[in-house]
Amino acid sequence: MSTEITQAPVVRPTILPLTDGVIHLRRGGTSVVVDVHALDGPVIVHWGVELEDVPEQLASLAAGATLQRISGGLDETARLGMLATPAHGWLGTPGIDGHGERGSSLRFSVTDIGVEDHEATLLLSDVETGLTATLELRLGASGLFHQRITVRNVSEDDFTLTSLQAAFPVPWDATELVETTGRHLRERSAQRHGFTFGTHLRESRRGRPGADATLLLTAGRPGFGFERGRVHGIHVAWSGNHRVMAERVTTGEAFLAGGELLLPGEGVLAPGESMSTPWVMGSWGDGLSELSHRFHDEWRARPQHPRRPRPVTLNTWEAVYFDHDLGKLTELADVAASVGVERFVLDDGWFNGRRDDTAGLGDWFVDEQVWPEGLHPLVEHVHAAGMEFGLWVEPEMVNPDSDLARKHPEWILQARQDLPPSGRQQQVLNLAHPNAYAFIAGRLHALLEEYPISYLKWDHNRDLVDAGSGPGGRNMVHNHTLALYRLLDELKQAHPTLEIESCASGGARVDLGILDRTDRIWTSDCLDPLERLENQKYTSLLVPPEMMGMHLTSPVVHSTRRTVSLNLSAAVALFGHFGIEWDLTQTDHTTRASIAEWVSFAKDIRDLVATGRTVFGDGTDPGLDVRGMVAADKSRAIYAVTQITTTITSPPAPITLPGLNPHINYRVRIIHPGGQDPQPGQSPLAWDRQESVLNGHILSTIGLRPPVQYPQQATIIEALQPI
Ligand code: DGJ
Repeated sequence: MSTEITQAPVVRPTILPLTDGVIHLRRGGTSVVVDVHALDGPVIVHWGVELEDVPEQLASLAAGATLQRISGGLDETARLGMLATPAHGWLGTPGIDGHGERGSSLRFSVTDIGVEDHEATLLLSDVETGLTATLELRLGASGLFHQRITVRNVSEDDFTLTSLQAAFPVPWDATELVETTGRHLRERSAQRHGFTFGTHLRESRRGRPGADATLLLTAGRPGFGFERGRVHGIHVAWSGNHRVMAERVTTGEAFLAGGELLLPGEGVLAPGESMSTPWVMGSWGDGLSELSHRFHDEWRARPQHPRRPRPVTLNTWEAVYFDHDLGKLTELADVAASVGVERFVLDDGWFNGRRDDTAGLGDWFVDEQVWPEGLHPLVEHVHAAGMEFGLWVEPEMVNPDSDLARKHPEWILQARQDLPPSGRQQQVLNLAHPNAYAFIAGRLHALLEEYPISYLKWDHNRDLVDAGSGPGGRNMVHNHTLALYRLLDELKQAHPTLEIESCASGGARVDLGILDRTDRIWTSDCLDPLERLENQKYTSLLVPPEMMGMHLTSPVVHSTRRTVSLNLSAAVALFGHFGIEWDLTQTDHTTRASIAEWVSFAKDIRDLVATGRTVFGDGTDPGLDVRGMVAADKSRAIYAVTQITTTITSPPAPITLPGLNPHINYRVRIIHPGGQDPQPGQSPLAWDRQESVLNGHILSTIGLRPPVQYPQQATIIEALQPI
C-alpha cells in the first residue's frame, strides 16, 4: 500500500490506575467508563453524564452491565465491545472487518493500557491474524469524547481492511434519531424518526461529505429538542467518504458508530503498514444546544481558531457572476467600503478561459484578456478603500476544456478508459499524483506571493465518483483526501495569516477534518433567509457560528425568486460570519444607509457571536422561529424572532428566551437596526413600550409576547444585564 497510510500513534507508557479493570475518564461534565478486562474485549460501559469517581461503584457499574446467558443464544453472550467482532460472539455490525492470507476471523485482546489525565490508550493484538490495534480515547475540556482506532499489520502478508469504525453506546431510552439530509441549495434538512431495532446507516460515497450528509447523527429520548431532552450524537471528522450508523440489538444495546467508508482496495495494508480512522467525536447534552456547545467550546480552544473579529465580507458571485469588469468591480468595492465591508472577495471567473462554467478550471493564471494588468488594479483599489482582498479558487478540479487537461490528461482521476461522469462540466485532479500536486501547489503559492491575498474561497463542485488512479487503477478517494489536507496545511504554514473558506457547491464539505485547516465554511448557495433558518440551525449543531458564512441577499433571491426585505435577510444572517452577496451598485442611498446600519450592528455583536452560545427555542408554533446568541457570562443576549408564516394564534402566544442565567435580571427591549418595518399590530406592545426588567428564570420559562408581525418579518430583542 502507498506511503499515504498513516502511522500508528506511539502507545504511552503503561500506568495502571485501574480498579478491577475499569478506566474512568472524567472531564467537562462527561464521564467515560471502560471495562478493560471484559471477555468481549474492552467495553465502554458508560458515556455521558459525569459520575463520581468511586472505584467500587465503577466496578459495580461494569458488573451491572454484563449479560446473563440466555436461551437460544451463544453460551457467552457478547456485548458491544470496542472492535467487537463475530469471533467474540458479537452479532451486530462489527467494529472491524477485513481479510488476508490468514483468513478473516479477527479477535483482539488487550495487551497494554496507558491512562494519563483525560486520555487513555489501549493496545490490542490478534496474534493469529498478525494485527495490532491502538484505541485512543480522549475527553476534551468541554467533555467532547474523541475516539480513534489504528490497525497495524505486523504479519508478513498483506491484509485488507474493509471497515473500521468507532462505536459509542447510547442510553437504551434513546429511542428517537434526529439527523439531516439535503441537496444543493438545501443542505441540512432535519429528519426525525424512531431508533428501532436494526441498523440505520448513512454513507457518503461522494469523496466529500456531501449536501446530504448528516453532520451529526443524534439519538435521544423521545421528543428531545434544542432546549431539553437527553441526547447523544457523533460526528466523523473526515472530508472524504464516511459512514455513520445507529444500531439497536435484541440483547439490549443501542449505539452510534462511525468511521471512514473504505472503497475496495483502499484498506490494503502491506506488512508493517497501518491505517487509522479519522477522529470520531461524540457529544451529549440535555437538549441539542448543550450537545452543540461541547463541539463549539472544543473548536474555539484550538490554537489556530480564527480569533480576530470576523471581517464583514462582500463576495462578488451573485453581483457579477462570470462577468468580470474592472470598472464594475471597483464601483462595487467602493459601495461595499462605504457600507462598512472589510473584506472583498473576487469569486469565480478571473483565470484563463473562464468566461462561463464550461472551461478553464486548472489554468490558474490571471486571464489577460479580461485583466490586462493582472488583478493588481482591483487589489490596489480594494486596499485603498481599506478592505482586505480575497480570491476564489477550486484547486482540485479541472475542466476537460483547459490547457491543463490537454497537457496532462493522466492527472485526472478516472478508473476506466472513459472519463467518469462529469459534474458541472468538470473532473477531479488526482492530487495524490506528485506532479499534479506540485503544479497546483506551485500555482497557489505563486498567486499568494504575487498578490496580497488574505483569504481564499476554496470551492469543490463535483462529487468524486469512479475516482481511480487511471484506467484499471486503484480507488483514490482516501489518498486524495490526505493530499488535500497536506496542501491546506502547507499553504497555511507558508502563509500564516491566510484564511481559507471551505465551499463545495455551497455547504457540501462541512466536517471537522476540513474545519481544522480552514477558517469558515460557505454554509449554502441558497441565500433565501427563510430557507437559511433550518440550514443554519442544523449546521450550527457542529460548527461554531463565527465559522459559518451568512450573507445578506439581494431583494429577489437568486435561488428561489422570493422577494425578501433587507431586515429579514439581515436578522437571519446576524448570528454567523456576516457578509453581503448582492450587487450593491444597484442600490439607492436609503437602502445603503440601512445596510450600513446592519453592518454596524453585526460588528457590534460579532464578539458576542464569536464567544457566546447559540440557542434555539423549541416553540410550538411552526410559524415562528426564535434563536439567539447568549454571551459566555450571560450578561447579554440577542434574539431574532422570525415570522415564517402566519401564526396559529393572533396575537402570537408567548415565546421563551432560552439560555439566560435564571438569577440575573435583564432589561429587555426591541431594537431596530436598519429601521422599523410597518407591522400589523393595532396597539403598542406593552413590555417594549415601558422599561421591562425580568429575570432569566421568567424569560426562559414563562416568556413574553412577541410583536405581531407579517410573514417574512423579523424582530431583534436584546436582553441586557444593567450595569
Ligand atoms: C459554487 C459556490 O458555492 C458559489 O458560491 C460560487 O463560488 C460558485 N461555485 C462559483 O463557480
